[in-house]
Amino acid sequence: MNILFLGDIVGNSGCSAIKKHLPLIIKSKKINFVVANGENAAKEGVGITENITHELLSCGIDVITTGNHVWDQKETFKFIKNQKRLLRPLNLSSDAPGHGFGVFDSIGGYKVGVLNLMGNVFMKKCDDVFIKSKKFLEENKIKDNYDFLIVDLHGEITSEKMAIGHVFDGEATFVVGTHTHVPTNDGRILKKGTAYLTDAGMCGDYDSVIGMNAENSLNRFYKRDSVKHFPAEGEASICGAIIEADPKNGLASKISQFIFGGQLQRDI
Ligand SMILES: [Fe+2]
Ligand SMILES: [Fe+2]
Repeated sequence: MNILFLGDIVGNSGCSAIKKHLPLIIKSKKINFVVANGENAAKEGVGITENITHELLSCGIDVITTGNHVWDQKETFKFIKNQKRLLRPLNLSSDAPGHGFGVFDSIGGYKVGVLNLMGNVFMKKCDDVFIKSKKFLEENKIKDNYDFLIVDLHGEITSEKMAIGHVFDGEATFVVGTHTHVPTNDGRILKKGTAYLTDAGMCGDYDSVIGMNAENSLNRFYKRDSVKHFPAEGEASICGAIIEADPKNGLASKISQFIFGGQLQRDI
């Protein structure tokens, strides 16, 4: 079982790279299931629209996760209710529309659970991610409720993400961080068999400031004349990881980080 996870897709540049390269990556790497964070996929670089959701799903992404930018396109409040493949963090307030967890079918006939969480430190107010995770694990079990479990923890700080990795060790196939748009080089298998990566990085143009136009971003830091952030439009690097997992226990046997195309190109 090969699972592909892609970091935050940013703007037109990120979406174009996904459309161009993802079908080939899926084929060449024999990928069974794809999860991507899409919270920045709209052309403005924040939020996601219904059309873009359809486009990303049609290129081979099975489930789209999100984070603090999930509601930045107003239409999302409405269409998320009917779009089960678009998740928002589970630990948002209980009256938020949509779902933070779902179980989906993969190529090969497996059930894959996808859980979207958001950190508490330096993030928008949401329920305690540790209490919510513990409760989730009391109610859900690998091999009972699903064959594999992928957890996207959308958060700012590395310690909180690493701690959540330990919470899910042996209970999830892969725990991966998103949100910072900068890939960390710490992909590994934890003691009880869960693959872990602090941040998957982004699918966007790295000649930028975390995907946003660099000149305008600098103007904002210097408090010079600037406009609202907007995405950089150069060639995107597709950042993520491929997890090889064992259908017998749902745990990971290998994690390979990859960066394809653009300024951060590495071997895939
Ligand atoms: Fe993001
Ligand atoms: Fe974010």
